[in-house]
Amino acid sequence: MRANPLMVALDTEDREILRTLVDQLAPAVGAFKVGFFPFLLFGWDLVDYIHSRGSRVFLDLKFHDIPNTVANAVEAAARRKVFMVNLHTLGGREMMERAAARVRDLSPRPLLLGVTLLTSMGPREMEEVGLTGTVEERVLSLARLAHDSGLDGVVASPREARAIKDALGRDFIIVTPGVRPPGVPIQDQKRVTTPREAMAAGAHYIVVGRPICQAPDPVAVAREILEELR
Ligand code: C5P
Repeated sequence: MRANPLMVALDTEDREILRTLVDQLAPAVGAFKVGFFPFLLFGWDLVDYIHSRGSRVFLDLKFHDIPNTVANAVEAAARRKVFMVNLHTLGGREMMERAAARVRDLSPRPLLLGVTLLTSMGPREMEEVGLTGTVEERVLSLARLAHDSGLDGVVASPREARAIKDALGRDFIIVTPGVRPPGVPIQDQKRVTTPREAMAAGAHYIVVGRPICQAPDPVAVAREILEELR
């Protein structure tokens, strides 16, 4: 049976709301994504709380530093038994190889995901930091570098998922934010697809935040999304 592909992004600063969301959603979803905003506020307490409710954590801290420092960071995350953790592919091959090597023999070990280009980067922003080629070309070349450096997958927009799957195969994990159920406001996301479209394009996991967390009945929205994916 396929693993539950729905990851809920917990982006709120209210401890009680966070706890209630985790209590309600833990039985229904595949994992919770903890970014640096809730992590800076609640730290490992939040991660431990999610684990205590029987669910899994995607620790979205996007490490980007020298190889030894990033290897230390992913090992620290692994010791807290997170399911998934990510790092910036722009940190380079050695950084990714050392991180992958550091957790390889741990059991359980977290899945290591690479962030390619942030979806907020367009042609102008790329040029400003000296990146050449198109967004699609760079995303694909960075995904390939992540693959060849021993990472398990990448975080990508649903728009890029198909090209990554075609180039790197079905086993290379793709996690896509920017997903909105049909008929739901897209808020500040720019290029959204529905959950079904994202999965059809090759996503293994989809990340959905506000449409679930800000709904009057978060569990009902999560169930509707999963229903659409059946
Ligand atoms: O509320 P929403 O569904 O837009 O939340 C999406 C989550 O995924 C947020 O935590 C956001 O920071 C994250 N994310 C994203 N786009 C990226 C990378 C991460 O929306 N390219």
